[in-house]
Amino acid sequence: MKYRQMGKLGIEVSAFGMGCMRFPMIKNAEGVDVVDESVSTPVIRHAIDSGVNYVDTAYVYSNQKNEMMLAHALRDGYREKVYIATKLPTWACNTREDMDRLLGEQLANLETDCIDFYLVHALNKGSWEKVRDLGIREFLDKAKASGKIKYACFSFHDGYDTFIDIIDSYDWDMCQIQMNYMDIENQATLKGMQYAGSKGIPVVIMEGLLGGKLAKAPDNVQALYDEFPVKRSPVEWAFRWLCSQPEVATVLSGVTNMEQCEDNLAIFDRCEVGCMTAEEEELIAKVRDAYNSRTKIGCTGCRYCMPCPNDVDIPRIFSTWNDLNLYGAKLKENGRYKRIIADNHAADKCIECGACEGVCPQQLPIIEKLKQADEEMR
Ligand SMILES: NC(=O)c1ccc[n+]([C@@H]2O[C@H](COP(=O)([O-])OP(=O)(O)OC[C@H]3O[C@@H](n4cnc5c(N)ncnc54)[C@H](OP(=O)(O)O)[C@@H]3O)[C@@H](O)[C@H]2O)c1
Repeated sequence: MKYRQMGKLGIEVSAFGMGCMRFPMIKNAEGVDVVDESVSTPVIRHAIDSGVNYVDTAYVYSNQKNEMMLAHALRDGYREKVYIATKLPTWACNTREDMDRLLGEQLANLETDCIDFYLVHALNKGSWEKVRDLGIREFLDKAKASGKIKYACFSFHDGYDTFIDIIDSYDWDMCQIQMNYMDIENQATLKGMQYAGSKGIPVVIMEGLLGGKLAKAPDNVQALYDEFPVKRSPVEWAFRWLCSQPEVATVLSGVTNMEQCEDNLAIFDRCEVGCMTAEEEELIAKVRDAYNSRTKIGCTGCRYCMPCPNDVDIPRIFSTWNDLNLYGAKLKENGRYKRIIADNHAADKCIECGACEGVCPQQLPIIEKLKQADEEMR
């Protein structure tokens, strides 16, 4: 395992950070959706045994069951081997007291006395102004002083200007941003990441594969990879590009099974700061154009918009729409969309309440795009 400096913090973290959001779910004996711990525990422990020392969860992941799942995986001596990162759900904070209550719950969920990296979750302009006015900075100072958290951090989903506003508004220990070779001018942007680096604030990366989209190269992208003299998988190209950036401390890799975990452990061992050559950067620029030419909507399938109050399966509809277009399938009356209609989750059920748009980290115009997707695929 390769380790990297955590900016000004004076500690080292593994280049591969274990992202816990995307483990498969199953129904337990009571019919409740829970994380399939027969998958998550062995994967997390194998990653730690292979040198991973950073694990990322959040209060809301997996229907609020993810922190408990992680606590179970970290029993038997694994807790002591890792830094735990978890996140305060800003949308559940309506008073200053809510912050204390939620932190207390999270410490219990995680079966620990101290959360190493405590992030204010998915900040954007609106949520930042809300928690700032509720006293988040004083809350973080107090939580650090009491030893309940070690580092005060934030994760971010908005544009460059808001990123700069937030990062300059407090003495943050770390920031977590969505970055991959497609998002250089989107979200915090490459410029924002470099700004954080210039202040010594370590940067943790999420959605490095754009939620898995960059792992499955469509034919126009695969053709570019095939023409290149050095052969690498699409996953390796995406992680290699990220590891090459000096500001990046750890890349959270969300895996869904052991095979992906093994694959990614090996990939991270082959990458380091500055590993991309000028020719490789040129290849990635062409790949970016090829993806952009076929993407219908920038949904990453994070599922923050779910559950929809009227049962529209927003991520499934958008991934179907993107996939059909990316991989050259016919859009109209395609079997995949027919199944969504048959399951009673199609876009025409949208009642335009807007609950989804308020929480979408990508700030997508979901209502309008659902209509367009329905028109094109029905
Ligand atoms: N704070 C926030 O706002 C926020 C938001 C998003 C994520 N996060 C955190 O960041 C972590 C990383 O983000 P992410 O899960 O979106 O990461 P990602 O790396 O962009 O996508 C992960 C997905 O890529 C696919 N994949 C991974 N390795 C692969 C391999 N070797 N071969 C083929 N496919 C592979 C899998 O999807 P399939 O198996 O389904 O194809 C996997 O679930 C999350 O787990 C979470 O902890 C935080």
